[in-house]
Amino acid sequence: MTVMVTGGAGFIGANFVIDWLAAGGEPVVNFDKLTYAGNLENLAALKGNPAHIFVQGDIGDYAEALKLFTTHRPRAVLNFAAESHVDRSIHSPGEFIQTNIVGTYHLLEAVRAYMATMSAAEKTAFRFLHVSTDEVYGSLSFDAPAFTENHTYEPNSPYSASKAASDHLVRAYHHTYGVPVLTTNCSNNYGPYQFPEKLIPLMIHNALNGKPLPIYGDGLNVRDWLYVGDHCTAIRAVLAGGALGETYNIGGWNEMSNIDVVHTLCDILDREAPRKDGASYRTQITFVPDRPGHDRRYAIDATKIDHALGWKPEETFETGIRRTVRWYLDNETWIGNVTSGAYRDWVAAQYR
Ligand code: NAD
Ligand code: TYD
Repeated sequence: MTVMVTGGAGFIGANFVIDWLAAGGEPVVNFDKLTYAGNLENLAALKGNPAHIFVQGDIGDYAEALKLFTTHRPRAVLNFAAESHVDRSIHSPGEFIQTNIVGTYHLLEAVRAYMATMSAAEKTAFRFLHVSTDEVYGSLSFDAPAFTENHTYEPNSPYSASKAASDHLVRAYHHTYGVPVLTTNCSNNYGPYQFPEKLIPLMIHNALNGKPLPIYGDGLNVRDWLYVGDHCTAIRAVLAGGALGETYNIGGWNEMSNIDVVHTLCDILDREAPRKDGASYRTQITFVPDRPGHDRRYAIDATKIDHALGWKPEETFETGIRRTVRWYLDNETWIGNVTSGAYRDWVAAQYR
């Protein structure tokens, strides 16, 4: 028995694969294109582990995906692979359309062809789990109720629109072709191995390097933060017990404004790695022009997954963010390696 994880060299995928194998899960075929966001260093802990089979490739490569399916015969495919950064989607939407929409379509087609080779028992056991985001629901006003699974899809960025399209394709392949799908829509994650283009690792990295901490707009945009390890346990719960064709919202019950997140980070760093001049990292905070079309607030109502599958987050923001800052302080080599070359070009273009 194996499972296939796509995008398992990225932030959430790598955490998922590491946690899955640590929890005694079946061997994993990890299928990842290794874009700028994919990094084999994230999987260094699995070096030499025969239960981890890494294959570099594109989910849009139908023939390669089908070959892997028929060779390894996974009992589940977990699709994490995506272009995932909103700011990059504003600069170059094409890659988001290509991977998130066209790539998911080719992967689903390969799954359909693979299913034609399955026995009845294999078909009954098989699952395609699609990892998606709360951003497909659009933006909430400050006093609106949190997103439930019944909220309309109102994506506002090229990233969220491409993820919404992929969710619709997954749904359609269930209704039309009987592919046994599960979809999860999760809020903002943070934790080890997150590429320092996203808010939390970018702020830690900039703070420690004496650079400005760039807050978009007024800093009052709200996100619902979840520790990545909790996202991984939620996905395992949905894979094990989710009802076919259903979607499950995953969130941390933890809404915070961006400025509060950055203040919290500065305060932890002031204690854990104080500046040599004794000043607070808060002095590095700089307000910069807003992201175009910046969604004001995301918030997840995670009642369904709690009631149906008994899942709740284990980390509070206080415990999760302290673990996360500690990880970045203890893993300077990782940060140093991922922030070379192409990363510098991105930062120069984005924060010009
Ligand atoms: P990430 O950008 O860190 O990693 C994406 C991974 O996918 C990388 O390893 C990359 O090499 C790989 N990849 C990209 N294009 C590919 C392709 N065409 N074929 C194969 N592999 C490809 O992203 P992440 O933050 O780990 O997010 C993983 C998934 O979770 C995404 O689908 C994202 O939409 C979703 N999600 C992310 C968050 C978050 O806060 N990061 C929240 C909710 C949902
Ligand atoms: P991000 O981590 O890019 O996630 P998403 O856009 O998917 O929610 O951004 C989180 C929030 O932080 C979002 O409101 C944008 C804001 N932000 C900044 O204020 N400055 C930054 O440099 C970055 C990267 C994000």
